[in-house]
Order: sequence, then structure tokens, then C-alpha cells
Amino acid sequence: MFLFWNRSSARNTNSTAQRTRAALGEDFARKLDALHDDALRTGLVTTSDLQEAYRKSREADLNPNKINLWYVLGILTFIMVLTPLFYEVITFLLGVRCFLPNNYIVSEATRPISDCGFCKDVSGPKILQNLTREKFAPYAYSSQPIIIKNAVAHWKAKTVLNFEYLKDLYERIPGAVDELCPFLQFRSDFKSLRDVFSMSKARSNLSNGQAPWYVGWSNCHPIVLEELRKLYPRPHFLPIDAEMPNTDYIFIGYEQGDFMHLDYIPRLVWQAQLQGNKSWIVAPTPECDHVCQSFSFYVEPGDAVLVDTRIWYHGSSIPNKGQFGITIQSEYG
Ligand SMILES: [Fe+2]
Repeated sequence: MFLFWNRSSARNTNSTAQRTRAALGEDFARKLDALHDDALRTGLVTTSDLQEAYRKSREADLNPNKINLWYVLGILTFIMVLTPLFYEVITFLLGVRCFLPNNYIVSEATRPISDCGFCKDVSGPKILQNLTREKFAPYAYSSQPIIIKNAVAHWKAKTVLNFEYLKDLYERIPGAVDELCPFLQFRSDFKSLRDVFSMSKARSNLSNGQAPWYVGWSNCHPIVLEELRKLYPRPHFLPIDAEMPNTDYIFIGYEQGDFMHLDYIPRLVWQAQLQGNKSWIVAPTPECDHVCQSFSFYVEPGDAVLVDTRIWYHGSSIPNKGQFGITIQSEYG
């Protein structure tokens, strides 16, 4: 189109246009001139339209680097700004276990519906006196919660384990406090095991005016695990072939306890109540409310409690104000 402008307004003076015509070849330029005339004859375009089109084509033609410069700047911006940003985002996403804020909600929403056989005709725990593995065998995988009185009263952990023992153990083993073991904050203001062992002596003793606290954690540090397991054996009543996980949980604190919940774990739970009484409340899944009932019970120091916490909603607390509680928990199955 620049040729149209050439011919109509600067035929004799625009040397640039002449050079362009020469570069294109006179024959081709004449064909474009004829096309120009035909276009004008349609009345759909005017000479000024063609001049404007030529002017814009010249701008683009004369300043090709202007466009390329924006592309280059865009690419550089992407590399220098967005790439580090994407890196941070990807690193963050890879660092979280689940993209959803609470995978417990997902587990609740997708759990299978109970057939209620586990809770029908169950109105309380089965209470057994300390017994041998053989005598416990018929009850070992019962869906009814079980208390075995005095089953762990002989454990060394019952007399040795307390807050100061745990604090000293974790602080003298390098890296133990900061090991990334699962930590359960519950209602407390502690975010980590380091927070727990950094609290004042007054708080750890729940002296007057101090706020109660209750936490739990997995003793997954190998040296801590080895040291702690010197204080308690595998529960003697459990079936010989029952599998147990490699780590256990420790729960310590005052009053608060945990919320009602189901555990999404592969096995049944056993707990050894070492210090303090603990109140339990268990409830059937909501779809079984019409045939089953909720109930509560408590355990005393030295008792073992076994609950299939995968099917019973459960929560616990330390009922006696100011009383320190400590519990060891693991699984079997
Ligand atoms: Fe639980």
C-alpha cells in the first residue's frame, strides 16, 4: 500500500518510495498501482485511507525493533520476576502434605458408611482384670472398647516418666527436639515440641494462675524411641502375631484432652495410662445413632485401654483439675 501513497502524493519527490518501487520491480509496482485504482473506484476506500495505511505500514517497517523490544522485555520480565515466583509457589506446594487445608474433613466426607454391627448392644466398655495373652485372646479384636485394670502398673515408665524426664531426654539428644515428628497441638497454644519444652517450670507444673495445656506427639526420633522403650515393653496381653508400628505416641498435660474424632489409621489403638485419670467418651457414627448409643468411662493410672478408634468417635480429657496426665499410645492389629 505504500506504493499508492507514492504515486498520489509524492510521485516525484519521495526518493524512498522510488527506491522501494525499484526494489519491487516496475512491473510489480504497476500491478499494485492498478489495484490501487480499482480500490478507489469501488468507493469503499479513499486516498486518505490508503495514505494512512501506508503511514502505519511505514512505522512498522521503519521501527521493527520497537515491537521486538517489547517481546524481549516481556521475556526478561518473565525470567527475572515470574520464574522465581513460580519457584516459590511450587516449593511451597511440594512442602505441604495436602493441598486441602484439612484432610481430616476429606476423610470424614469419604469414609465408608458403618453397618452398625460394631456398636449394636454395646453400652459400655468391657472391663477386664490384668490377664495373660491367652486369656485376652478372645477379646483381642473386639469392637467393644476394653479396659484392662492394672495391666501396665508394673511398667518402669509409670514411675519414671514425667515432664522433667522427657524434657531432659529430648534436650540432651542432639536434634531430638526439632525432629519433624507428628505433633498434636489440640487446644494448647504450643505449636511444636520445642515450645512445649521451652515453657516455664511454673507452667509445666500448672502452678497457680497458669493456663492448662495438653499435647501429644510421636516419638519418632530413633534414639528417643530406643531410650523410651527401655521404660516400657510391648504390652504382654497383645496377640503374639499382632503388628505394631515403629513409633508410639506420648500424650501429656492437664485437663484439656482432645476433640471428638475418628482416627484414620490402619490398626486398633491401645493406650497405657501412666499418670492421672483419663475420661473417655465414645460415640457411634451418626448413621448408627438409631441403634447404638454413646457412653463414657474413665481409666486410672496403671490401666490399659483398647479401642477401635477407626469406628468409634472418641474424645478424652483429664477430669481432675490440676492433675497431670501422661499416656503412651500405639496401635496393634
Ligand atoms: Fe484418636
